[in-house]
Amino acid sequence: MENEKTNEKVTMEKIESLAKRRGFIYRGSEIYGGLAGTWDYGPLGIALKKNIKDMWWKRFVEDRSDMYGIDAAILMNPKVWESAGHVATFTDPLVECEKCKKRFRSDMTEGKKCPDCGGKLGEERQFNMMFKTTAGAVEDSASVVYLRPETAQGMFVNFKNIVDSFHPRMPFGMGQIGKAFRNEITPRDFIFRTREFEQMEIEYFVKESEWNSQFEKWRSEMVDWMNDIGLQKKDIHELEVAPEDLAHYSKRTIDFEFDFPFGRKELYGIAYRTDFDLTSHQNGSSVTLEYIDDVNKEKYIPHVIEPTFGVDRTILAILCTSYDEEEVEGEVRSVLRLPKKLAPIKVAILPLSKKEELSVVAQPIFEMLRKEYVCQYDETQSIGKRYRRQDEIGTPYCITVDFESINDRAVTVRDRDTMKQDRIAIDKLSEYLKEKFL
Ligand code: GAP
Repeated sequence: MENEKTNEKVTMEKIESLAKRRGFIYRGSEIYGGLAGTWDYGPLGIALKKNIKDMWWKRFVEDRSDMYGIDAAILMNPKVWESAGHVATFTDPLVECEKCKKRFRSDMTEGKKCPDCGGKLGEERQFNMMFKTTAGAVEDSASVVYLRPETAQGMFVNFKNIVDSFHPRMPFGMGQIGKAFRNEITPRDFIFRTREFEQMEIEYFVKESEWNSQFEKWRSEMVDWMNDIGLQKKDIHELEVAPEDLAHYSKRTIDFEFDFPFGRKELYGIAYRTDFDLTSHQNGSSVTLEYIDDVNKEKYIPHVIEPTFGVDRTILAILCTSYDEEEVEGEVRSVLRLPKKLAPIKVAILPLSKKEELSVVAQPIFEMLRKEYVCQYDETQSIGKRYRRQDEIGTPYCITVDFESINDRAVTVRDRDTMKQDRIAIDKLSEYLKEKFL
């Protein structure tokens, strides 16, 4: 692990402020006062997100011969959500304040008083969290469609397509990364609970008799993933979801909770969805979704293990883990100690001044290295300010080109974490960095 530290310095204010200041994440529609539960990713936020999604996709889809990728439509036939049980049960308990009319998730209020104005709270009722819209030019009940609240159903409805096109042997799975939408009653905690977010999900199809062993395998796959993205064991806690709290489709769920600055909250989950979804869609569509095992002469509806990963919560957990502050020469240095493979910018090339004699040395270095790494060329402001900026966005290496470089054909490479500087010959740079990024 690259990252070993206790992180009591991190607060949500610091993370939000850094994310905005440095171009990771902005409030959605900010110039109009924002829109609750929406956030926009800036250039560095997208780069971090893409690195996470690419790493996930490679690991769980491309590098495995038992996995099939899919990118299903966000809008689906509304019967999908009826069969899947979401129209009836994808709800949160809601209470409304009789005085100020504000609405809250009732499990987030204590007692019968409004957390905002102290007014009396009304009776609890169930609120369906699916966003509704209409498809086509006529707006009537027949044209209602939903924005998907989970990517999972796009995989269940394509189960037969994958079987017909690829004839996979059991067990096998499908993986998908994509947007999901939930009309959360109280979006909060920055990108933790939003109304539009991304999921990376796996539906792994197994024989019923194998569900327990596959559940355990995927549980440990998830632990390995969290370790590889730099999260620390001490911050992660497994919670066996109580039977009365299970989602309508689940027989067993373990939540992976993470110690965020605002408390211990769900990061990921793994669920045993039984044959609930495929059976429901078979009944709802009248299309058979049985798997035919020619070798063992068996025919059955597979059961499903579902490991699910929120992209935005991954980003938040990584930012919180990576954020660090230390005192350097009487000043506080803030630094994102991101795992190198996730850092949005890998190498910054910083000529000491804007003078042409330095740029003729620095530019070719930039052109050479950008073929291998995402690089940034920065010649604005003082070198101190530029280091501070690169530290705050988690750039592992800064290369400084100074006036000596003109004669000795060497540059200074500064390590983000140790701030140690090495003098390296320009023609050895590529080799030096290759070793560092191993
Ligand atoms: N297909 C199963 C499913 O959707 P879930 O626990 O409701 O299960 C899966 O959601 C993951 O999606 C969560 O573990 C979390 O990482 C992420 N997630 C859920 N609701 C979210 C929200 N409102 N904002 C951001 N991420 C969310």
